[in-house]
Amino acid sequence: MHHATNRVLKYGGILGSCAAFVVCTMYVTQSTAESSTGSPDEVASASANPSREPGATGITIPKGYRDWRLVSVAHEAGNLNDIRAILGNDATIKAYREHASSFPDGAVIARLAWKFVPSETNDRVFGRQQSFVAGPQPNWYLQLMVKDSRKYSATGGWGFAQFDKDGNPSANEAQLKACFPCHTPAKGHDYVFTQYAP
Ligand code: HEC
Repeated sequence: MHHATNRVLKYGGILGSCAAFVVCTMYVTQSTAESSTGSPDEVASASANPSREPGATGITIPKGYRDWRLVSVAHEAGNLNDIRAILGNDATIKAYREHASSFPDGAVIARLAWKFVPSETNDRVFGRQQSFVAGPQPNWYLQLMVKDSRKYSATGGWGFAQFDKDGNPSANEAQLKACFPCHTPAKGHDYVFTQYAP
């Protein structure tokens, strides 16, 4: 896996380079914590997620997900207009780096999104409008893909969940039902679109 289709490559290439500057700046100051248990059954610390109800799929927010390592970044234009970081727990990062053909049970991928906003402060330094940074978290702040090939056998071995910035799960059944079908074009990469950014 991870031999991207042309479409995904092109997509990742264009969006990736566009977002790279902003996200690099962001991540320099990020925690450098290397280890995380990443068990999907553990819940996050209250500071980031005061409300931690399990979503419709029974998935709760993994403890320490904000310290996971970076897989890649992306920028969605159009109505979403966000910038996102894709993070992985240890099992996910290992699988990516070993170019594994699929992800093992226990792998969890977290996709974080922020509104993509211009930075006046940064633009003053550049003398023109060129800096775009992470703004407030949209309602689709956190999406998770949790690998458990038995539990989620009906959806490619992945459980899907979405939470807002306060840790409230998406109560929208129709929205959750749409996750897996839309990820099927990435079946050749174990239903994961994001390629590892070296
Ligand atoms: C309209 C199709 C579509 C729907 C619906 C959708 N996704 Fe995705 N998802 C994508 C695409 C395409 C990407 C890669 C986006 C990018 O990198 O710009 C992605 C990326 C992700 C990622 C990062 C890992 C990866 O596969 O690249 C996660 C996690 C994720 N989606 C979870 C979810 C969850 C949870 C839901 C349902 C609440 C959902 N997705 C619904 C198309 C979709």
